[in-house]
Amino acid sequence: MSGGDAFREYLAALLPRVETELDRLLPPAATPPATLHEAMRYAVFAGGKRLRPALVALGARAAGGGEDEVLAAGAALELIHTYSLVHDDLPALDDDDLRRGRPTVHKRYDEATAILVGDALLTLGLAALASEPAGIAADRRRTAVALVGEAVGSTGMIGGQVEDLAAERAWPDDPAQALARIHRGKTAALIAAACELGALLAGADAALRTHLAGLGERLGLMFQIADDMLDQVGTTVSLGKTVGKDARAHKLTYPALHGLDESRAELDRLRREAAGVAASLPRAGDLFGSLIDYLASRDH
Ligand code: IPE
Ligand code: IPE
Ligand code: MG
Ligand code: MG
Ligand code: MG
Repeated sequence: MSGGDAFREYLAALLPRVETELDRLLPPAATPPATLHEAMRYAVFAGGKRLRPALVALGARAAGGGEDEVLAAGAALELIHTYSLVHDDLPALDDDDLRRGRPTVHKRYDEATAILVGDALLTLGLAALASEPAGIAADRRRTAVALVGEAVGSTGMIGGQVEDLAAERAWPDDPAQALARIHRGKTAALIAAACELGALLAGADAALRTHLAGLGERLGLMFQIADDMLDQVGTTVSLGKTVGKDARAHKLTYPALHGLDESRAELDRLRREAAGVAASLPRAGDLFGSLIDYLASRDH
């Protein structure tokens, strides 16, 4: 198989199990306050790719574990990722009307609801990581919360979001260096944490965890370069979000700074680098290799 087919099949098989976990973690829509819980479900069950739960599962496989033990942790990361999207779309941030093929939460409901949906998804995700899976040693779960909390905090995802927005107002003096920090922060930090989290929960030692975090960072950089390119060359229908927004907002993105050809070249360079790291994994190297091909060729 080529072009990421093996990973696509793996993701498709995992998907229903991830949806079941998400459904289990989220309070029923009728739970008071019902509008909040309905809106949380509206944001989550809108057809996301569920890439981060798959990365948690692959991280576990690389450490000799199975998917079953880490599904809840993967779903917890998907809740946190969905929070980041709900807030990213707010008028004060990227001001987007469409997400996952539907009106954004602040459009379907209102801004206050979208802010609070984000708050509730983040806190629910962290609480789930602290308590699930119950069979895993408490010290591992504590490390998991610390790992993810740091990845999505002010020195990780939020830091990247702040620099992304600042650059929109005026590109910084060294845009290439700022762009690298933005991609590392807003996207790669959580993706690297997903890979490391699976390995941690499956009992990996420090060396294997670091190996997976390094691989995950490269995957995250690939992911965001592709996201930036798709905003220029993708379609609103296949992406489920409005294309061409980055240029209109004067965003500092890879293709805006370097052009599409150079973006493609950097994606290929990262692909080769990541493939080398994946090939040296003790297990799951093939699936990670296929994931790398998927990331280099995705159209949504
Ligand atoms: C979009 O993430 C936000 C970025 C980090 C670029 P995804 O492309 O994984 O979004 P969903 O979850 O599939 O909707
Ligand atoms: C979003 O980056 C990153 C986070 C949500 C943390 P983008 O702003 O490029 O993502 P899209 O294009 O809106 O999905
Ligand atoms: Mg953004
Ligand atoms: Mg955005
Ligand atoms: Mg984008």
